[in-house]
Amino acid sequence: MVPALCLARCRSRLRHHQRALDAGFEGLVVTVDSPVYNNREIDVRNGLVFPPRVTLKTAIDSLKHPRWLVGTAGRYYLAEGKLPAFSNIHVPEEAKAEATGYVSAKSSSFLNRNETLTWDFLKRVRDAWPHKLLVKGVLHPDDAVTAADCGADGIFVSNHAGNVNDTAVTPWDALPAIRQAVGDRLTIIADSGVRRGSDVLKGLALGADVIAIGRATLYGVGAAGEAGATRALEILESEITRTMAVLGVTDIPSIGREHILLPNELPVSGTGTG
Ligand SMILES: Cc1cc2nc3c(=O)[nH]c(=O)nc-3n(C[C@H](O)[C@H](O)[C@H](O)COP(=O)(O)O)c2cc1C
Repeated sequence: MVPALCLARCRSRLRHHQRALDAGFEGLVVTVDSPVYNNREIDVRNGLVFPPRVTLKTAIDSLKHPRWLVGTAGRYYLAEGKLPAFSNIHVPEEAKAEATGYVSAKSSSFLNRNETLTWDFLKRVRDAWPHKLLVKGVLHPDDAVTAADCGADGIFVSNHAGNVNDTAVTPWDALPAIRQAVGDRLTIIADSGVRRGSDVLKGLALGADVIAIGRATLYGVGAAGEAGATRALEILESEITRTMAVLGVTDIPSIGREHILLPNELPVSGTGTG
């Protein structure tokens, strides 16, 4: 975490938890792994900016995708008289005006005041938030222990799908040491790169309690909307049950460390009984 603390900004950020409380949310996830906006080269290349606006490039791209133009953008426009937007993020006008590249300097600092993100800040969030508190983006056992010391109920062992630090350790490599360090103090959720049911079982075997999925269902949405997300989950479920049958286990709690071999644990040839 970034050690600097800015009290004024912390105060303004802490106000947001009240909106979540008022809306009835029962869990709060504080993402700690992206103190600055990631470098989205693909979006610089394709002309996508945040906040979204129509550029020559995006206009041409939209015209080349008439189904999206009519079915998605057009549907929003007819219903709301504007293009899809992040309804819960207000971007100041001056930040919109100077947007170049994926995200303008002003909207970037507006969206990422994460120089305020310290363990002290997390403790203050803990004091202010009466429900479940999760810390997302933990990859080191010491950080996991500190999150528990700050009063977190759980952590996401996640590298943000590799799109924040493209050389970060994978959650799957980090999981065993993190589980060993925190024992049962925290619920551990793992994500990043889960594409198959066997990936889910690998995460559980390495020490996670829960596996989270991002793009696997998002691809389903892209292909067929809500039905596509349902189908993606069905595929994952059938892969999970099939792999469990292959492993010879009948329920999820039975998945354990003995069901997975890490590269350095592979049996050395010549040591077998044959
Ligand atoms: C479209 C999209 C938006 C995301 N936005 C956020 C976000 O605002 N905060 C966050 O912590 N993670 C965000 N993530 C990352 C996911 O929470 C999750 O860590 C990641 O997608 C898991 O990897 P996977 O997509 O390979 O399953 C986003 C992911 C996607 C695909």
